[in-house]
Amino acid sequence: MAMPIETARSASSARDFLLAKQEGRKLSMITCYDYAFARLLQMTEMDAILVGDSVAMVVHGRPSTIHADISMMRLHTEAVARGAKDKFIVADMPFLSYRKGVAAALDAAQTLMSAGAHALKLEGVSGHEDVIQRLVESGIPVMGHLGLQPQSVHAYGGFRVQGKTDDSAQDILRQAVELEQLGVFGVVLECIPAKLACEITHALRIPTIGIGAGAACDGQILVLQDMLGMNVDFRPKFARRFFEGARSIVNAVESFDAAVKAGEFPSLEESYR
Ligand code: KIV
Repeated sequence: MAMPIETARSASSARDFLLAKQEGRKLSMITCYDYAFARLLQMTEMDAILVGDSVAMVVHGRPSTIHADISMMRLHTEAVARGAKDKFIVADMPFLSYRKGVAAALDAAQTLMSAGAHALKLEGVSGHEDVIQRLVESGIPVMGHLGLQPQSVHAYGGFRVQGKTDDSAQDILRQAVELEQLGVFGVVLECIPAKLACEITHALRIPTIGIGAGAACDGQILVLQDMLGMNVDFRPKFARRFFEGARSIVNAVESFDAAVKAGEFPSLEESYR
């Protein structure tokens, strides 16, 4: 149930994520990219908002997340932070921003934290362990992202479920343990078999946040526009629609169009005297 802004309850720090796992409370996360939706999410009990690099696809119509860069992420993080003043905001480190050495990654991190993020998420671990460690040591809460890593879409040859073979499953588990050792406060598990996500969840003290990773994860995340049913072309099995947004919005706009063309809008009450 939605609550007034003043009383909405939700996690407000990385520490709350760890506490939630210890206390067996499920965590809820959702993506957001703009001020208008952020104001609505502010009125909910969602634990955290992710300004995901999926913004490149969902908002800008690009074919993958590799088209999100630091200026795009900064713009959208600022807008979300203005709208959801009391929410815990995680921002995605965009493609390659954490693969060019520690100094460049710290610059990118500074940009996003100054834009209003409270934590940063980045994909994978191999080859940027030093970056993760330095961010954590710098007091920046870091969230990991394993399984399907959308920034590696071209290496996979498409958006494919990961961890289906024993070897790849063991590798994802190993990376999750390594991320925990490096000090991340949570890890997104995207599109992996539910059994593997369950095993990882039990192996870690930090919470797992699933998307297409089954019910055993400590929390769940969905892309806001998928959850609202706004994307007619995209319907993966994990993206439950909690609203038929596309139909409702198209119907509303069609009603406006019809009212204008019938000369029925605006009415006298909707006009100034
Ligand atoms: O960018 C994004 O939307 C994400 C979620 C799919 C977890 O990383």
